[in-house]
Amino acid sequence: MALSPQQAIDVVNRTFGRHSGYRALHAKGILLKGTFTATPQAAQLTRAPHMQGAPTPATFRFSNGSGNPRQPDYAPDPRGLAVKLYLPDGARTDIVAVTSPRFPTKTPEGFIELLGAQSGGLAAAWKMPLFLARHPEALAAIPRIAPSLIAPSSYAVASYYGLHAFKWVGADGSERYVRYTLAPQAPGSRLAPWRARALGRDYLREELRERIGRAPVRFTFEVQIAEPGDPTDDPSAAWPSRRRRERVGTFELTGLETERETGDDVLVFDPSRVSDGIECSSDPVLLFRPSAYSESVARRTAPQ
Ligand code: HEM
Repeated sequence: MALSPQQAIDVVNRTFGRHSGYRALHAKGILLKGTFTATPQAAQLTRAPHMQGAPTPATFRFSNGSGNPRQPDYAPDPRGLAVKLYLPDGARTDIVAVTSPRFPTKTPEGFIELLGAQSGGLAAAWKMPLFLARHPEALAAIPRIAPSLIAPSSYAVASYYGLHAFKWVGADGSERYVRYTLAPQAPGSRLAPWRARALGRDYLREELRERIGRAPVRFTFEVQIAEPGDPTDDPSAAWPSRRRRERVGTFELTGLETERETGDDVLVFDPSRVSDGIECSSDPVLLFRPSAYSESVARRTAPQ
């Protein structure tokens, strides 16, 4: 039987605890505001309104992947960068990316099984061989993911990957599948565990607040373009590195966002919320996410 969003979030809550008011995953985060400005190359690849060159206002959220809002920043974890773009006609479109260069599995069931297998710590390690037998793609993906879990010196210096393929449709009707990378313009590194620990539990937020007070933070938006035969429905499988890449724009983060998520305001970043000129692929992980995010929203906004 197919996994339901409720079952998925039950497993997530069992793994990380249920924390009222917080996202079931990526619970700890920080909001910023700024703009996105596309390069001329972008308009050749898609007719999407935010890809035509005019600056588009944006909200950004950096996060740690854990569902525990009290997990220290130095703990190994994928980090997230989510972007909401406010389009001229009042619509919104979201981009959601993580520091892992691949997703561990090609199905939502596999991902939830992996989370469940981790939840018991070492006592549950016996579950892993079973998991790997059922999801062999994870054998190749997990070694590529492991180094990306090491804490970075700043949220502003990591690369973030969109992982899913999206179809970009040009003004002339031409089509191509692309994958997103948000590449940092600021230099930085990953930290040895003892060094990150010395910076404190909340050093990533503190560093970002201090950094953004001095100057804007920028990321280059790059797309990798698929060729026929490249998998467009499997976020655990990389495309050959020689595939063409284009710089399609710059995200400029200019300050902290203090108006959103106050009072009754609910902010959700949903990668399937695309615009004209951009279509979701048939990736089952991508297609499962909106219902899982809605379930998380229902639980985080439920009256106590
Ligand atoms: C079946 C697969 C997945 C499940 C079940 C899942 C589940 C979730 C849930 C429940 C949330 C909290 C939503 C909310 O309350 O607003 C979340 C947030 C997030 N997820 Fe996923 N996710 C999946 C795949 C992915 C993938 C592939 C990526 C990266 C491309 C990703 C990146 C993120 C990020 C960055 C956030 C935080 C967004 C924010 O700042 O609001 N997730 N995920």
